[in-house]
Amino acid sequence: MSYRVPPSEQVSTTTAADSHPTPTGISTRSIHAGARPEAHTGSVVAPIFQTSTFQMDTPGETRAGFDYARTGTPNRSDLEEVLCELEGATFAAAVNSGTSAEAAVFSALLGPGDEIIIPRDIYGGTYRLLVNEYQRWGVTIRTVDLTNTAELAAAITDKTAIVWVETPSNPGLDIIDIEEAARLAHAANAILAVDSTFATPFLQRPIELGADVVIHSTTKFINGHSDVIGGAVLAGDGSTCPRAAEVIDRLSEHLASVGLGISPFDAWLTRRGIKTLPLRMAKHCENAQIVAEWLESRPEIAEVYYPGLPSHPGHSIAKRQMSGFGGVVSFCTDTEARALSLVSGTELITLAESLGGVESLIDHPATMTHLSVADCELSISPRFIRLSLGIEDIDDILADLEAAFAKSAEAGRAEPAPSEAGSAAATAEATTAEAATAEATTAEAAPGESALSVKADALTGA
Ligand SMILES: Cc1ncc(COP(=O)(O)O)c(C=O)c1O
Repeated sequence: MSYRVPPSEQVSTTTAADSHPTPTGISTRSIHAGARPEAHTGSVVAPIFQTSTFQMDTPGETRAGFDYARTGTPNRSDLEEVLCELEGATFAAAVNSGTSAEAAVFSALLGPGDEIIIPRDIYGGTYRLLVNEYQRWGVTIRTVDLTNTAELAAAITDKTAIVWVETPSNPGLDIIDIEEAARLAHAANAILAVDSTFATPFLQRPIELGADVVIHSTTKFINGHSDVIGGAVLAGDGSTCPRAAEVIDRLSEHLASVGLGISPFDAWLTRRGIKTLPLRMAKHCENAQIVAEWLESRPEIAEVYYPGLPSHPGHSIAKRQMSGFGGVVSFCTDTEARALSLVSGTELITLAESLGGVESLIDHPATMTHLSVADCELSISPRFIRLSLGIEDIDDILADLEAAFAKSAEAGRAEPAPSEAGSAAATAEATTAEAATAEATTAEAAPGESALSVKADALTGA
């Protein structure tokens, strides 16, 4: 069971089960949608329904629509309802990871002979999932610079089933024009799917911009407390193109058959986290903007990637399609040694995979989150650092970075500064041999087409 907005009632409506009128402001919805006092005791916060099955009074007749917890639970429904309302979607399913959300979309909507177009800067796990699991189904993966929609127009064929957009992207913070990508995809009867993890519905609502499917790793900003792995698949009303009309039914059937649903406790935690999403996102954005500007002024930094900077190539698109620029800032240092020194040198900012929590986290993608794309066209420079700004006091964050830079002074003298600088993916250099345990063969790959075999032991985190 997933959540579907009742026909012709979206966002500012009530469901049959809901005695409150659903409010329209996003902060109010974050608190109240899918969060009503429990009927039996009056508990203001819903309990965790930790059960695998539900009593029936007569065979086949459920009391509240729940029969068996693989297909649905009250906590999961609550979470799906708020996600649907925030995203302006028609359909929502809360699953057990962002990667499960992706797998559900790929399994439900791709078949042998289909092509999927993906951006050149993408979460490494998405790439690994496609290459390891769907290439052997006979799906062709085309990597395209989607920041340039002319390249998308040239790459779409009549076999394109999905155009997959990640914006802002992980780790390079590329910005893709969702409206234009939707227009091009629909003209070819292809689905536009957007991984909107870095934005959350507070900053960006792809369905309103024409997307058919949105996925989130709710592990990140949506839950926001680094204590849950979760994901969500959302879909629009299917009116954009003939292929889109089938999306909700295909997703529903797949999800009910496979059982990827998030557990009651994780759903409950995520629902709680969402209550502060607007407040948290505002602070993440504020801190990230200050840190991005501060980094841009540092001589040790070759390039800063943050869509809130006027120097970012996607700044004007981001201003149009987002209401804030997000909480992640990436940058390239002058030397690899400095990058390694910096990520190990912070104290308040924790060296860890993942992002989007209330605490600031620092990541060296080439050796951590994006190890699975080492040695292929998507590899990340070893001078590249991803910083997820938490909601701590900005002075403490800056003091920690300042101290780490001071400690890295020696490392900066270790190698000459590289001369070139460009976008994150364009400056991506082959990762060092020590870091690259991922095995990849591009020998048979046609241009723009991936024939990679990513080793399962080169697992990426987030
Ligand atoms: C943009 C993006 N999409 C999807 C995922 C996968 O999410 P999860 O780790 O919850 O499976 C991640 C994880 O980092 C991500 O950054």
